[in-house]
Amino acid sequence: MSQSPPNPAPKAVYVKSYGCQMNVYDSQRMADVMGAEGYREVATPEEADLILLNTCHIRERAAEKVYSELGRMRVLKEEAKAAGREVLVGVAGCVAQAEGEEIVRRARVVDLVVGPQSYHRLPDLVARATQKPGVVDTEFPAEDKFTKLPTATVASTRSRGLTAFVTVQEGCDKFCTFCVVPYTRGAEVSRPVSQVLAEVEKLAAAGVREITLLGQNVNAYHGLGPDGAEWTLARLLYRLAEVPGIARLRYTTSHPRELGDDLIAAHRDLAALMPYLHLPVQSGSDAVLKRMNRKHGRDEYFRLVDRIREAQPDIALTSDFIVGFPGETDADFADTLDLVRRVGFASAYTFAYSARPGTPGAEMDGHLPEPLKTSRLHELQALVAGQQRDFQESLVGRTVDVLFEKPGRKPGQVVGRSPHLLPVQVIGPSSLVGSIVPVRITATKTNSLDGVLVGNDHMMSVHAAE
Ligand code: SAH
Ligand code: SF4
Ligand code: F3S
Repeated sequence: MSQSPPNPAPKAVYVKSYGCQMNVYDSQRMADVMGAEGYREVATPEEADLILLNTCHIRERAAEKVYSELGRMRVLKEEAKAAGREVLVGVAGCVAQAEGEEIVRRARVVDLVVGPQSYHRLPDLVARATQKPGVVDTEFPAEDKFTKLPTATVASTRSRGLTAFVTVQEGCDKFCTFCVVPYTRGAEVSRPVSQVLAEVEKLAAAGVREITLLGQNVNAYHGLGPDGAEWTLARLLYRLAEVPGIARLRYTTSHPRELGDDLIAAHRDLAALMPYLHLPVQSGSDAVLKRMNRKHGRDEYFRLVDRIREAQPDIALTSDFIVGFPGETDADFADTLDLVRRVGFASAYTFAYSARPGTPGAEMDGHLPEPLKTSRLHELQALVAGQQRDFQESLVGRTVDVLFEKPGRKPGQVVGRSPHLLPVQVIGPSSLVGSIVPVRITATKTNSLDGVLVGNDHMMSVHAAE
């Protein structure tokens, strides 16, 4: 007979997310699946009976961070044990998938390892790890985790606010030679339209107004529609725009090879689709793009940018760049700087190449010394920072619609997001939270904008005098 503890307090789960937004989404689903088992979600590891680290393997530093975090978890676990409480530690996400058993060998604190395709089996894995620590599940099971995972509960959605992520596509078949994602997330799959729609309707009913559709290659979406046809991302966006309550749609991340005509047209015609596009190019050099196996050149990228700007002149374009890929010459790097100058980005993520075991890039000749990668990275970052400043300054004096999300840090402030995804703060009543209202932008900060509610322009003097 199982002995019930004297204190039947509900168990608590803490999930920490690293890496991309798909991990953020998965972390919420893991909290939901454990929620169905009676676990409540907590905000700090100290309060938890189950600690899950949802990890990222994209660069060496990201992967190594997990082990230092596990060192801290060992201390927590020992302290809890001394106080008579058992804490279970699990590693999920892409490090779990890539390293599997190795994690348990290297970090004895780990009780379970669960790959991104197995989260629906988490309750069973937790039960097994409670009996005997060291459970590893990194299969790519035939069953679809999405049909098995509970979708967001109303309570969890409420606590998460007005915006939500919905994964619509997972995995990647592109095999860029620097990237681990095809190995950690498996082949590309799209969720059926009806499943996505049901989840979005549920979120909308719980008060969500803005949805960001997620996928490693989200614009390669080709989910099965209710009509038996494969739907494109554009078609899905049009359908989701009809869901009552949903006012704004976004999607990320896109691959330049998958940017279809109908998606470009949607940026012109679909009012709910925000003027923002994250379109990673990685390099401005054709030679490097070829070795990266990106299957597009710089001219193709320029043409796409022209077409998207023709459809939606107000679009904020952002990108990812890798500098110091094996064999990258000074001339190759100059081509990257040139591409950035020609396109003009609203912002960009920049990375120094990190060799990942098992990827073709790691085996290539011509690896660059770290200091050279770092100096190129700094040069690119300075250029991008200038463009980001220019973009934000170009918004000063303009009126943009802001979806207000929460009270600001200062009293009387409310903050929200502009169509370009920039945080905007104004002085105004907290009753604004949840609505979309026009705001005149008055100033830029490093990563945000100040504004005044239109019709409240007299507030400007108060604001400026702060
Ligand atoms: N699916 C997306 C990006 C996934 S990873 C795409 O196709 O663009 C996010 C970013 O991490 C990549 O765009 C790339 O810029 C960066 N990245 C991936 N592997 C890397 C590596 N080995 N070294 C440095 N940066 C890397
Ligand atoms: Fe990685 Fe390339 Fe796939 Fe993006 S498209 S996830 S960079 S392999
Ligand atoms: Fe990292 Fe995996 Fe996302 S490697 S970037 S968490 S898909």
